[in-house]
Amino acid sequence: MSNECAEETQFTEDGSLTLKDEQTGELYHNRAGAYTEALANFVEPLKLYELAGEAGQLAFLDVCFGLGYNTFCLLNELSKLALVTDSIKIVAIEKFQKPLLYISRVLSDERFRKLSEEIGSQAPCLAAGKFGTWEFQLQCKTRKVCVRFELVQGDLRQIVPPLVERDRGIFDGIFHDPFSPRRAPELWTIDLFECYKRMLKEPNGKVVTYSAASAVRGGFCQSGMLVRRTPAVGAKSGGTLAMLPSIACPEENGLPLLSDESDKLAGRAGVPYRDLHFCKTAKEILRAREAEQKLQFPY
Ligand SMILES: C[S@@+](CC[C@H](N)C(=O)[O-])C[C@H]1O[C@@H](n2cnc3c(N)ncnc32)[C@H](O)[C@@H]1O
Repeated sequence: MSNECAEETQFTEDGSLTLKDEQTGELYHNRAGAYTEALANFVEPLKLYELAGEAGQLAFLDVCFGLGYNTFCLLNELSKLALVTDSIKIVAIEKFQKPLLYISRVLSDERFRKLSEEIGSQAPCLAAGKFGTWEFQLQCKTRKVCVRFELVQGDLRQIVPPLVERDRGIFDGIFHDPFSPRRAPELWTIDLFECYKRMLKEPNGKVVTYSAASAVRGGFCQSGMLVRRTPAVGAKSGGTLAMLPSIACPEENGLPLLSDESDKLAGRAGVPYRDLHFCKTAKEILRAREAEQKLQFPY
């Protein structure tokens, strides 16, 4: 599959790398920092220290892998813990080859030094940006843990729905990181979030995303998940953390929504994007949402 979008690299304010997608005009990351955003909006809200004592496999799904910051930050943070598990499973989905060609540059960041050595020596194909399944040992605080890394090429709308059967109830964390819902509503639908809900591990599995859009939060809420806010990074207003209703102490995860965010969520802005069969165009989805908004909120 070729990449139809040309990209150019830029450095963000924390010294980490990002790309510009020419098709949407969007940067892959927050200008304040690709690394900082991955840590604050994706990894920290998962509260990894709570997973350290789990004996079973830890598993994470990274949707829209791009340059890989979310997963590499995750592995970096996991390696600082005294994990009890023997294995970490990562499933990462990315449509294009192009961003993967920058993985070795991403890993050359001093903050990834140990991880870079481990991947470079044991899974050189991953460092070279090749799709496939790769394994390596991650030296954690007290022992080595086997990482099995499936890097899958494809459109998330085609990959995620069939994955539900294979990976039902296994993921401790799901990173959802497509381009913005305004530009690509087909990648932010309630139907996709329902798939995620079925793939989360009970009771504490979580989905995290950088978007704070009410339509996105409405999709998570209406799919039966609990929604909280994640901290603001740079000028952006913070992202979203969605949890299973079975989670023990929801109020100890993320931050409460601000009152205007809750108001918007309950109003027309909170009407989600829908795409039951994962095949509608962005225009069709936007039109159908407008019609639903008019029906539900006529005045
Ligand atoms: C915001 S960037 C992700 C940044 C990435 N998580 C990182 O840490 O570098 C969005 C990514 O989604 C990919 N993408 C775009 N459309 C997609 C689709 N339909 N399915 C899967 N990936 C897609 C793009 O190629 C791009 O790498």
